[in-house]
Amino acid sequence: MLVSAKEMLDKAKAGHYAVGQFNINNLEWTKSILQTAQELSSPVILGVSEGAGKYMGGYKTIVGMVNGMLEELNITVPVALHLDHGGYDACYKCIEAGFSSIMFDGSHYPIEENVEKTKELVAAAHEKGLSIEAEVGSIGGEEDGVIGMGECADPKECKMVADLGVDFLAAGIGNIHGKYPANWQGLSFETLDAIQQLTGDLPLVLHGGTGIPADMIKKAISLGVSKINVNTECQLAFAAATREYIEAGKDQQGKGYDPRKLLAPGAQAIKDTVKEKMEMFGSIGKA
Ligand code: 13P
Repeated sequence: MLVSAKEMLDKAKAGHYAVGQFNINNLEWTKSILQTAQELSSPVILGVSEGAGKYMGGYKTIVGMVNGMLEELNITVPVALHLDHGGYDACYKCIEAGFSSIMFDGSHYPIEENVEKTKELVAAAHEKGLSIEAEVGSIGGEEDGVIGMGECADPKECKMVADLGVDFLAAGIGNIHGKYPANWQGLSFETLDAIQQLTGDLPLVLHGGTGIPADMIKKAISLGVSKINVNTECQLAFAAATREYIEAGKDQQGKGYDPRKLLAPGAQAIKDTVKEKMEMFGSIGKA
């Protein structure tokens, strides 16, 4: 059964480790992540962006697929199904569809409007037993071919949003989605420290987990980060393994074109990536 992400992240914060949110794109992604979490006895969060939700045939399709796998694959570790960077309408759709956690990303609104909408959605999520993440300070990334540098959130605004009763908070600390550019300045631990001082026990979320060096990840965890989002790195690993299979001509040997064979190296590459991250985040054996 899907669970809210609150308990697993409160435990992670108290235990000084982080739980990975791995974004899913299809059945292979979902199965690889769930099986790895089960093998390593780690809690896990499956992230679904609005775009991936549409791609996979809608939120209800995803809920059906994930619930089916939990049962049929005997997944007993804590699993949360979480809307990633949801808009206002998507949050309500996911609450309705059977997700166990949502993120409302109101970071592009003026802070007053972000506060207003977050407050409303906290009540709506909690009424149905879902956990909710909010965001302060927009997290950069590549948009239309331009890589925007990550903003640093204002710690006072973080405190304002934390006080609305959100279960965990994403704050920009110079992190961005996708690959980091060569001239990236690194994470702002000063900002993270200031945010944690004001928000106390609230688990903090680090987006843009792809490509952040292990020492920075460890330092972020020591300063209160309890959830780390990874998406691009699984995509890169999947693409590289699939390319290698095809470039070796394996799809043309025997029944190598069968999707169950063709997608197997990519699925294994996702498993390897998830394992590597869970080791780095310290969540193995914490289920
Ligand atoms: P990456 O794609 O950089 O790993 O970021 C994932 C993320 O933060 C999803 O919200």
